[in-house]
Amino acid sequence: MPRRGIPLLVDEAWGAHYPFHPDLPTPAVRAGADLSVQSLHKADGGLCQSSIIIVGGDLVDPVDLRLRLDLITTTSPSALMYGSIDGFRHRMVADGKRLIGDGLHRVGRLRDRLAELPDLTVIDDSIIGQDGVAEWDPYKLSVDVSGLGLSGYQVKEWMLAEHELVVQLGDARRVIFSLTFGDDDEALDRLAAALEDLVRRRPEPDRPAPRVPPLDELNLEQAMLPRDAFFARTEQVADPVGRVSAEMVSPYPPGVPAILPGERFNAAVVDYLRAGKAAGMTIPDASDPSLETFRVVR
Ligand SMILES: Cc1ncc(COP(=O)(O)O)c(C=O)c1O
Repeated sequence: MPRRGIPLLVDEAWGAHYPFHPDLPTPAVRAGADLSVQSLHKADGGLCQSSIIIVGGDLVDPVDLRLRLDLITTTSPSALMYGSIDGFRHRMVADGKRLIGDGLHRVGRLRDRLAELPDLTVIDDSIIGQDGVAEWDPYKLSVDVSGLGLSGYQVKEWMLAEHELVVQLGDARRVIFSLTFGDDDEALDRLAAALEDLVRRRPEPDRPAPRVPPLDELNLEQAMLPRDAFFARTEQVADPVGRVSAEMVSPYPPGVPAILPGERFNAAVVDYLRAGKAAGMTIPDASDPSLETFRVVR
């Protein structure tokens, strides 16, 4: 029983496969979380929207949970979605260790091949122990392309245009490929060949990589409660510096909000968001997707 009796809810959207192989990170509920939310459509082959909640321990009553979910969910569930959830569960229980283990070997061979490439840095298990990293998932292939003088935004577009490969994410320095146990040798060979081609042909940089401010400049003052700011009377303004945000703006990657309702805009966060947007950063949740204006408390 935790000291304060507050349930810990973990966003484990990318980790539904963790319980089924010992070389993957510890699943959240096994590490002591009370609830974990997983999106099987991300790394695990479920149909889109096939998300599940896992209850661990006895702090959260499953009946309470169901009654609360009833407030916000449809009364017409999709048999297709349930089928895909149960198909994943069945496959993992029956054969998950072998499927995931074989995939980990293939990914290991890909990583060895990419390690030969000059000017690319493939992020590996040496991150464990740094900046709060306790474990890692080798299926997430994160490649630093800044040594080529390119941003991840440009490389993401280049991979699609030149090789018809969809990169999961690009940021100021990196591209991230989301690999799964479903990727066979042929798929990984195609990816490796595309990265080898990138290093060989090196496109000219077509945009500056946006400057990412030091993290403490992005620590914003909490001027109001998030709820009060979200439900306040609002307006859209072109110069929000000094004003209290009424919206959440989350560049993706990393998918962490740069500003939340109730926080006060400073110049660093506005420059970071606008420069990132100009370079190709994805910002899925802003009230004005062009970032010409922001929603602030009136
Ligand atoms: C870490 C994380 N959590 C949650 C989500 C959203 O999950 P869903 O697609 O089920 O809405 C995402 C989406 O990309 C994510 O990356």
